[in-house]
Amino acid sequence: MIHWGSKTIHDSRFNDSRSPMNATFKIWRGDASGGGFRDYTTEISEGMVVLDAVHDIQRTQANDLACRWNCKAGKCGSCSAEVNGMPKLMCMTRISDLPLERPITIEPMKAFPVLKDLINDVSWNFRVKKQIKKFRPRPPDAPDGTWRMQQQDIDRVQEFRKCIECFLCQDVCHVLRDHQMHDRFIGPRFLIYAAALEMHPLDTEDRVAELREAHGIGYCNITKCCTKVCPEEIQITDNGIIPLKERVVDEFYDPLGWIWKPKKVKS
Ligand code: SF4
Ligand code: SF4
Ligand code: FES
Repeated sequence: MIHWGSKTIHDSRFNDSRSPMNATFKIWRGDASGGGFRDYTTEISEGMVVLDAVHDIQRTQANDLACRWNCKAGKCGSCSAEVNGMPKLMCMTRISDLPLERPITIEPMKAFPVLKDLINDVSWNFRVKKQIKKFRPRPPDAPDGTWRMQQQDIDRVQEFRKCIECFLCQDVCHVLRDHQMHDRFIGPRFLIYAAALEMHPLDTEDRVAELREAHGIGYCNITKCCTKVCPEEIQITDNGIIPLKERVVDEFYDPLGWIWKPKKVKS
């Protein structure tokens, strides 16, 4: 029996408490110079997540196995890896949700360089973030220095602020993962970061030209893979990228917009 939130799931694989169950994990070991998978077998039990198994293996068989984690609650974004080839948070991936007939593979993300074992160097993301124009609010609406905003305008950007910077969306995006276009495309995480600023009701900055040129929004072909892997269930493409693309089209490709909107008004 597995407890999952308010639900209880019966899993026959864990029924007999007298016979402990083992699972085999193929964990990538190595560093920037190269590496490969090594097999580890460890005992598993009800409720375990992949990160628990990695910790057990670290404790009993591979003291030098490097993995990054912090909260074990899906909120710090540190334990990102590829489990059975899918970008996942290891602390939120139940072993009971994985097929156990074959070994479970765990490897570092493919879109970023490897530092050691399961740890990637994700510093490129922090450099990208610095390149996006900062929040620039309009002058206060009232003499006491406060602003007035519509709740619906706040709600729209609040979704993007749930991001935990796990970078799983960056990892799954083919523009970064397969084509390695890190010098031309900022990736879904930073497109929604730009959206949160661009759609903020107080912001007066204009990021549309950068989105089209330096940030490479045109490389996104809206496959929605990023949305599917987001642990915060942010609607990255529908609510973030597509509205930004529309702004680019309005500003650069819509001749009627040039006639009727001589002066840019942010919405
Ligand atoms: S929708 Fe765009 S940003 Fe998201 S994974 Fe696909 S190409 Fe990348
Ligand atoms: S948008 Fe989602 S998948 Fe991407 S970094 Fe933020 S939380 Fe992770
Ligand atoms: S350890 Fe924090 S998200 Fe997994």
